[in-house]
Amino acid sequence: MTPPLRIGLNGFGRIGRAIARILLARGHHELVHINDLNADVANLAYLLKYDTTYGKLGGEVRADGAALAIAGRRVPVTHQPDIAEVDWSGAGVDVVIEATGVTRNEQHARALIPRMRSVLVTHAAPTADFTLVFGATEKAFDPAQHRIVSTSICDACAVAPVMRALHARFGVDYGFITTLHPWLSYQNLMDGPSRSQAYPGSTHSHYALGRASVGSLIPKPTTVVGACERIVPEITGLLKSMSYRVPTACVSSADLSLHLEREATEESVLEVLHALRASQGTREVIRITDEPLVSTDYLGDSHSCIIDTRWLMLNRGRQLKLVLWYDNEWGYSSRVVDALDLVAAG
Ligand SMILES: NC(=O)c1ccc[n+]([C@@H]2O[C@H](COP(=O)([O-])OP(=O)(O)OC[C@H]3O[C@@H](n4cnc5c(N)ncnc54)[C@H](O)[C@@H]3O)[C@@H](O)[C@H]2O)c1
Repeated sequence: MTPPLRIGLNGFGRIGRAIARILLARGHHELVHINDLNADVANLAYLLKYDTTYGKLGGEVRADGAALAIAGRRVPVTHQPDIAEVDWSGAGVDVVIEATGVTRNEQHARALIPRMRSVLVTHAAPTADFTLVFGATEKAFDPAQHRIVSTSICDACAVAPVMRALHARFGVDYGFITTLHPWLSYQNLMDGPSRSQAYPGSTHSHYALGRASVGSLIPKPTTVVGACERIVPEITGLLKSMSYRVPTACVSSADLSLHLEREATEESVLEVLHALRASQGTREVIRITDEPLVSTDYLGDSHSCIIDTRWLMLNRGRQLKLVLWYDNEWGYSSRVVDALDLVAAG
């Protein structure tokens, strides 16, 4: 067991609250400071306690002045828009998790070093010293050197380990990735402009993404390939991608269609996937299933990636189709908390 760390959360939205719940459930590292623009602390307590996706959180969760009282502990809450201006050291924070999605915070994170052991950014951050994705890069992680650490995006946490293993064994000539991703908080309930989470107050040119999130499958570009290339540089230039925002609250899927350099069989592909799973020991990175399941069955699953071998198909031994599932909130946030163990061990 690594020594416990004192954690500050910047951004108490979907990912921030999932991380808070996982920290509480594991009971090792301690949440000691929350910073979120929402100045209504009672509302933050309510949102942590009652969750449409994951249900009610048991135990004490309430507002206590400018703090949250959670399971007998008082966690101060501030409302500073700039991550670099928050008084993290007042609460003795060792690691800040940046989970606002605001690019300016990602860029200002470095100002917190060396007052802090590290800052984890819950995004594919080009400014980071290292991108930590379990199943792909964790062995190269050096917490003494890598202080601004990106935990990438949920899609790349699922896809990159699988791509790395397949490329090493069969060679990938080229391919397509199609992700199906649930709606996100910045989308619209009714048709409107497409709002940017990264640059608050601005809209962007993905007009389709501004359409009613509950009414349509919304095709859109995605950054999954760039994020995977940062993790597995040897696949650079081989893949193209697109995504659909789908009208569900949680659980994503990735559909890989890959042309292989070397001929494969279903058995040899399964062998690679099982070896990848085994390489992770007890860590919940890869799960393999052949049950006839649907997305909701994976809700609350802590794995980064569940490989659905029902849809493993080979065309003439060289064209491979593979379907992956991942709880884009819980699975992803579980890895962010796992990353704290590596920081603590450093
Ligand atoms: N939701 C997912 O499926 C998912 C998965 C993996 C990674 N991520 C990444 O996690 C980050 C957060 O996404 P989310 O879905 O939790 O978003 P969200 O909108 O649910 O939460 C963002 C929170 O940050 C707060 N906030 C916004 N600007 C702030 C600022 N300047 N200072 C302090 N607080 C501020 C908001 O009030 C909100 O509570 C993004 O970078 C996103 O790409 C999201």
